[in-house]
Amino acid sequence: MRTILINCTKIIRFMRTIIEPFRIKSVEPLHFTTPQQRKTALEKAYYNTFLLHADDVLIDLLTDSGTSAMSSEQWAAIMRGDESYAGSSSFFKFEEAVRDITGMPYIIPTHQGRASEKILFSIVGGAGKVFLSNTFFDTTRANIEFSGAKAVDLVCEEGKHPLISAPFKGNIDLVALERAIEEHGVGNIPLVMLTITNNSGGGQPVSMENIRATRAICDRYGLPLYIDACRFAENSYFIKIREEGYRNIPVKEIAQEIFSYADGCTMSAKKDAFANIGGFLAMKDLPLALKCRNLLVITEGFPTYGGLAGRDLEAIAVGLHEILEEDYLAYRIRSIEYLTEKLAAADVPVMQPAGGHAVYLDAATFLPHIPLAQYPGQALVTALYLEGGIRSVEIGSLMFGKYDAAGELIPAALELVRLAIPRRVYTQSHIDYVAEVIIEVFKKKQELKGLKIIHETELLRHFTARLAPIE
Ligand code: F0G
Repeated sequence: MRTILINCTKIIRFMRTIIEPFRIKSVEPLHFTTPQQRKTALEKAYYNTFLLHADDVLIDLLTDSGTSAMSSEQWAAIMRGDESYAGSSSFFKFEEAVRDITGMPYIIPTHQGRASEKILFSIVGGAGKVFLSNTFFDTTRANIEFSGAKAVDLVCEEGKHPLISAPFKGNIDLVALERAIEEHGVGNIPLVMLTITNNSGGGQPVSMENIRATRAICDRYGLPLYIDACRFAENSYFIKIREEGYRNIPVKEIAQEIFSYADGCTMSAKKDAFANIGGFLAMKDLPLALKCRNLLVITEGFPTYGGLAGRDLEAIAVGLHEILEEDYLAYRIRSIEYLTEKLAAADVPVMQPAGGHAVYLDAATFLPHIPLAQYPGQALVTALYLEGGIRSVEIGSLMFGKYDAAGELIPAALELVRLAIPRRVYTQSHIDYVAEVIIEVFKKKQELKGLKIIHETELLRHFTARLAPIE
């Protein structure tokens, strides 16, 4: 891998190769399958890779959530977990780690990100309310809508074009934000939320300038600003390498500056905390925190454990420290960029620039001969599995498509396939293999056929839909 950087990498800055900044102490075998076995497994799963058995997958890029490899320090911390029902010492370590980065006084542990969202939006949401964001992640949107409120995405123009490169495609459109505040009325907007990085928009970062400007708009209207902080460290690192004035600032300080502009945050510790489970909700507003804690006790658990075991709190506390190590972040961001570059060099239509946690293929451009109503994204997902046992996920019309009154598909705005890279799990040769498989499929793309849905549910159909190939 070529070095992009800089003063944070101590020895490797003199070398062109960025190596994995860890060595392997414990290994898990991969499961190899024959093409015939994959064909049978896919048929049994009705061409929906969510329905595959994980043992039938060779390289699992379904998600970067909860799939990180924990460090020896995290495993050691797990053994120190204090499982006291109340006042566990593990909670205080967790609380200190979260407070150190976010500066938030009130910290509420939850079992994962969506539990934080459920608690927050059950309290501040409700019919007639409107929430504004760069882009709400699906579970965030679902929790807002479940409360009866409306969720509005206002990502900047560059963020809507997968193949156009820009440094901060996750930014919120500031003009559209002010317009939306005026249109919906300040009194109906409980808060504005920035998702960093913008997962649904391709893991693209939000700049500090944009966060600061959003804060200024919120101040002008007296609105709270919340952060969906799942990938805060990756976003902070992008600010370091792409935004003027941050090159020499430690990533931790960049993260602290981001949170200093916020009134609160939701977090899934399954991403940028290297934990297999966990999350939190944090805020500056005491009356709101008390209401959230009440709901926490009913739905998650006592305030010093939330939905977690003491050992999980320990793993998160250590993970939050490790995620801000700059050698790790240099390797992390570079490995996503490396895969993106390899694909782009073979003319594979891949989202530009590389995001922080995943590589996104533009399936509509990859497979122009498959109409959107025949789900080219899912066709590509199944082809990657058949070719090389790689599991990816469609983020297109299977996930977001709707039907019009005549039952015709209204396709999603973008037809993407996401290959999310678990943290510290796969090595460069695994990534080389992934590139080889994708390029192989690209070479025979004309042979790929579309799919039709034969069974679906009303909500979140992509998880359970059954499909069949169109011959
Ligand atoms: N917000 C963002 C930006 C996310 O990416 C996710 C999860 C959540 C909130 C919810 O967190 O899973 O802990 O409840 N994203 C995963 C993914 C599922 O695959 O992108 P959770």
